[in-house]
Amino acid sequence: MKIKGIKGVKDILPGEIEKWQRVESISRGLFSRYGFQEIRIPIFEYTRLFKRSIGETTDIVEKEMYTFTDRSGDEITLRPEGTASVVRSFIEHKMYGPGVLTKLYYIGPMFRYERPQAGRFRQFYQIGVEAMGSASPAVDAEVMTLLIELLHNLGLDNVELQINSLGCSQCRPDYREKLKTAIRGHLDELCTNCNQRYERNPLRVFDCKVENDISVARELPKIKDHLCEQCLGDFAEVQQLLDSTGTPYSVNDQMVRGLDYYNRTTFEVIAREGLGSQNAICGGGRYDTLVEEFEGPPTPCFGFAVGVERLVAIIPETQWKDLSTPPDLFIVGLGEEAQKITFKVAHELRQQGFFVERDFGGGSLKSQMRKANKQAARYSLIIGENEIKTGNYVLKNMDGGEQVDIPADNLAAHLIPHLK
Ligand code: HAM
Repeated sequence: MKIKGIKGVKDILPGEIEKWQRVESISRGLFSRYGFQEIRIPIFEYTRLFKRSIGETTDIVEKEMYTFTDRSGDEITLRPEGTASVVRSFIEHKMYGPGVLTKLYYIGPMFRYERPQAGRFRQFYQIGVEAMGSASPAVDAEVMTLLIELLHNLGLDNVELQINSLGCSQCRPDYREKLKTAIRGHLDELCTNCNQRYERNPLRVFDCKVENDISVARELPKIKDHLCEQCLGDFAEVQQLLDSTGTPYSVNDQMVRGLDYYNRTTFEVIAREGLGSQNAICGGGRYDTLVEEFEGPPTPCFGFAVGVERLVAIIPETQWKDLSTPPDLFIVGLGEEAQKITFKVAHELRQQGFFVERDFGGGSLKSQMRKANKQAARYSLIIGENEIKTGNYVLKNMDGGEQVDIPADNLAAHLIPHLK
């Protein structure tokens, strides 16, 4: 039987990979202008890291993790997201200090056992950013404007930034109790899952995708009416700062995010068109207690992650102009002797930094010229038996068609001025 790739996992082939490379290079360029440095975190970690950070009662931990026992009996999980690993690494490598804001970004694959559909994969890529070490609402606003600038630079303006505040350890416990009491009045209308987890994690009811539950959730008390002074003030400041840069946003008071580590400002970016139901291209927010929960020093943090597949899918075609660089030269070598000369001159020109292509099959002049055309080579160099005899090869400009003779002696040196 032919072996196929796994469902929900895709290859990114030449033709598409250039788009990914462009997204990555624009992201890297922008991140460095904001002072973020790259971190490469491992693809697998101990399962307990994700269970404790993302939360036992989240969909990710309950049903989506790729978990296995390795040969030494350790419980391992393929990372479903990057924040937990960054926090683990931040503590392990003591990337903190008084007044230090550690600014990191990562690019890489994540793994979630979700039902595959358009825009939803089991291996997908995220570009993530984490700012660690400040509780200032200005960090929230700055990181969100960084994201909006990134999307704008990629030609994506038809997006909606939705923000919310999830409160903090001061105000959320009271709210949770009020929410639980309210949920108890609707238990017969809510799905089994919500019935099972509301005691441990009542906020998850806002994350439920069952239609009836969504309408029940609409009527439940909202965190925005139960925020403490500090959370209210911070959330107002975030909004003022976004307003001051002209960044459009809306407040979505039902957004709770699918991971438990968040507090205060949380946000999502939704694509208004092109993605169907999987239209969240980015999610993020503040997680002020996670570092401490893993025995690091108190370190308020803010971050986000963008889904690369979804991003690439909706970037307008006009952004993909000039994605691949054509060869400077295609060498057409006819006959055995010519192939040897081709080998040597291609090597010399590549050493000089030129992009040189050739044909290994030794096809006819016509078929080799067809390949040169197909690859949109700037020049072709024809080395045939006749040319070898006369000691002059023919260099053809593939755009205008002009031809010049190039002496065989010291061939590379004679070609370079033309190719420059
Ligand atoms: P998240 O909302 O779970 O947040 O994921 C962020 C983005 O990853 C989503 O908005 C979506 O674009 C993409 N994504 C998630 N699941 C899939 C999937 N199955 N297929 C394709 N794309 C997907 C986080 O992961 C947090 N760690 C973000 C964060 C960083 N918060 C603070 N710092």
